[in-house]
Amino acid sequence: MQNFTFYSPTYFAFGKDQENNTGKYVKRFGGSKVLLHYGGGSVIRSGLLDRVKKSLDAEGISYVELGGVKPNPRSGLVYEGIELCRKEGVDFVLAVGGGSTIDSVKAIAAGAVYEGDFWDFYQGKPIDRALPIGTVLTIAAAGSEGSPDSVITNENGMYKRGASGEGIRPTFSILNPALTQTLPAYQTACGITDICAHLFERYFTTTKEVEVTDRMIEALLLTMIHESPRVIADPDNYEARANIMWAGMMAHNNSCGVGRSQDWASHDIEHELSAVYDCAHGAGLAVVFPAWMTYVYKKDVMRFAQLATRVWGCQMDFTNPEKTALEGIEALRRFLKSIGMPSNFAELGAKKEDIPHMAHTACYGDGRSGRLGGFVSLDEQDVTKIYELMV
Ligand code: NZQ
Ligand code: ZN
Repeated sequence: MQNFTFYSPTYFAFGKDQENNTGKYVKRFGGSKVLLHYGGGSVIRSGLLDRVKKSLDAEGISYVELGGVKPNPRSGLVYEGIELCRKEGVDFVLAVGGGSTIDSVKAIAAGAVYEGDFWDFYQGKPIDRALPIGTVLTIAAAGSEGSPDSVITNENGMYKRGASGEGIRPTFSILNPALTQTLPAYQTACGITDICAHLFERYFTTTKEVEVTDRMIEALLLTMIHESPRVIADPDNYEARANIMWAGMMAHNNSCGVGRSQDWASHDIEHELSAVYDCAHGAGLAVVFPAWMTYVYKKDVMRFAQLATRVWGCQMDFTNPEKTALEGIEALRRFLKSIGMPSNFAELGAKKEDIPHMAHTACYGDGRSGRLGGFVSLDEQDVTKIYELMV
């Protein structure tokens, strides 16, 4: 295991009706003037936004609103939010929504206290300082409610890039699984896929002897495999939603990733798909991950065979571990199909002729160095071949 530091100070309030305490938590963590940030309207239709406003009113906390965050959130609204925070003297930002709204609020929180262009953070500058952030989560997926990360698409060039730093780890996050019951089945499945992807990105490591985090990742994957069909069959299943929601947080606050190298090439490869086609991040990952696995599994056949046996229940073939490894990849394909995820370019709406552009931008766009991934280091040619496996 490698040396590491781990500091994850988010205060979580989990369970039914917890959103009614939002105002109390804002007050407790020092907020007096709030930016209330949300997406395209699901929180208005469900009545959640009204409940959150009522709880702010009850504590005498004033707020300004900025809605309209799109999935794959854009830089334009971030600039607008930064201006608004400065003009109104906002001292606390609150996201009510999914990963896109949370990521957008994180960018605003960092940009509002920074003199330069907020995009500097998305080109590699760590975020040490930001306005304090609260979240009321409505979809189990990105894990942004517990992560120090944010992903934004710059409309100037359509680069989708991530920023990181302890400054943007949420101060508090409210997780009420019942709020996810209004999700369409497709969005639920996209979230499930993203959660599994965050676990795979950490599982495929070159660090030896990391049994505790291996086993934690496997436990979370087994939970996802158990709960996913239950929630797809019955969207109102609170207990299944609850397990998925907490797994989503655990998958990405890095408690399963400490002390080990990680990969993340699949996320970079997917970000080009969502930048070019505006597809849901989880749907893109459903197409990318089996292709990436097929391309790289020979690097460590035994690790793939371990995943196949421990998570997918495959029988270990000791005379031919490669067969077991490949059976595991097939099991993943079947799982993704069973929850309604796309499996190729056509089902995603992607086009073969865009591969050269995406492979180049993934490796070199917006100042990138040319290589992706930690488990296997990929160059532009490798990335091209991985996209070709998705056609
Ligand atoms: O905009 P509204 O109207 O709210 O609708 C949203 C949106 O259309 C809808 N939705 C959310 N909760 C709902 C609901 N509809 C009905 N009922 C509810 N309870 O679902 C759609 C998707 O929402 P979005 O916020 O985009 O989903 P998600 O949480 O999957 O976020 C995706 C973004 O997170 C980034 C992705 O790249 C993508 O841009 N990621 C962020 C990470 C991080 N910050 O740590 C890590 C991830 O790897 C990921 O890259
Ligand atoms: Zn993701």
